[in-house]
Amino acid sequence: MTTIDTVQRPRLTPDAASCMAAIAAGRFRHVRVAPGHPDMPLVNLRDAGSADPSARRALALELGEVCRHIGFFSVESHGLDPALMSRAQAEIEAFFRLPAEVKQQIHIGKSDRHRGYVPYGEEKALGGSAPDIKEVFDMARELPLDHPAVLANKPFHGPNVWPEGRPGFRASVSGLFDEMLALTTRISRLFALCFDKPEPFFDATLQEHLCEMRLLCYPPQPGGAPAGQIGCGEHTDYGIVSALWQIDQGGVELRRHDGQWVQAGRIDGSFVCVLGDMTERWTNGEWPATLHRVVNRGGALRHSVAFFCDPGYDCVVEPLPAFVGPGRPPRYAPTTMGAHMARGYDGSFQYRAAV
Ligand SMILES: [Fe+2]
Repeated sequence: MTTIDTVQRPRLTPDAASCMAAIAAGRFRHVRVAPGHPDMPLVNLRDAGSADPSARRALALELGEVCRHIGFFSVESHGLDPALMSRAQAEIEAFFRLPAEVKQQIHIGKSDRHRGYVPYGEEKALGGSAPDIKEVFDMARELPLDHPAVLANKPFHGPNVWPEGRPGFRASVSGLFDEMLALTTRISRLFALCFDKPEPFFDATLQEHLCEMRLLCYPPQPGGAPAGQIGCGEHTDYGIVSALWQIDQGGVELRRHDGQWVQAGRIDGSFVCVLGDMTERWTNGEWPATLHRVVNRGGALRHSVAFFCDPGYDCVVEPLPAFVGPGRPPRYAPTTMGAHMARGYDGSFQYRAAV
């Protein structure tokens, strides 16, 4: 078992500012400051696939420092196929150009599994007062109708819905889902090392995952929008880690763990990663979920993809032994991923008010 011992784990830096300063000074081997983006740690994932356990462990240790102090990072050497990303980009942009009545044919309210199209004005951040300024296509794990979980009517399990006559959309978006699942699974294995668990700690629950991928289109921020109404209101994501592909322009804004808000900017070919609610619970609050929002401050439509790496519906999440002990009592009661996701969706989606 390869883990990072809690007691022996070296703390490289004490806080967010010193962590960024150490990265800028070249004290991290696997993390650098993203060129042109002085607030963004850029993690090189090349050694996540190393055959040498000590190389994977060294990468995990540095990534853990970034997660504990800062709460977000971008990744390079992530392994996604640029040709697939290019095909997906073209299909995603074409989908959102379709007439409204075509997109409405796959409205999410017609699905009993939370799949399909969400028009403008029908979703808000949990606890938010105004709808987000965006439209969305939601998809997740493709399961046939005769899968045991579907036959048992387990929420959120089943087949996706797809726009008619667009096989290239389905192929490239499905391919992107598979590659982003692989990417976030690699990141989860690094997290496991930081949690004093074997690298495959998350693998079993990710076999039955609730991962979701959202394709998003944001119009420019209207000048007359009410205060607080933006592309996507402040929120945290539900699961382990999320990977965000800002296809054509930036817009994601992130709150560092010390409270400072940072504009993520757009780094070509990279993904911005944020920590989810389940990671906060597993770490007993040592790695808080990352508060973030989206504002399209540009003058053109903004397209993006968000992949949420979520454990399985029945996965019970509670603080791990590495994060509790004398003077560190558990701060979170056990919950399941499925119950947490349902609570979040019920407070965010207009269609669920009628469920
Ligand atoms: Fe989010």
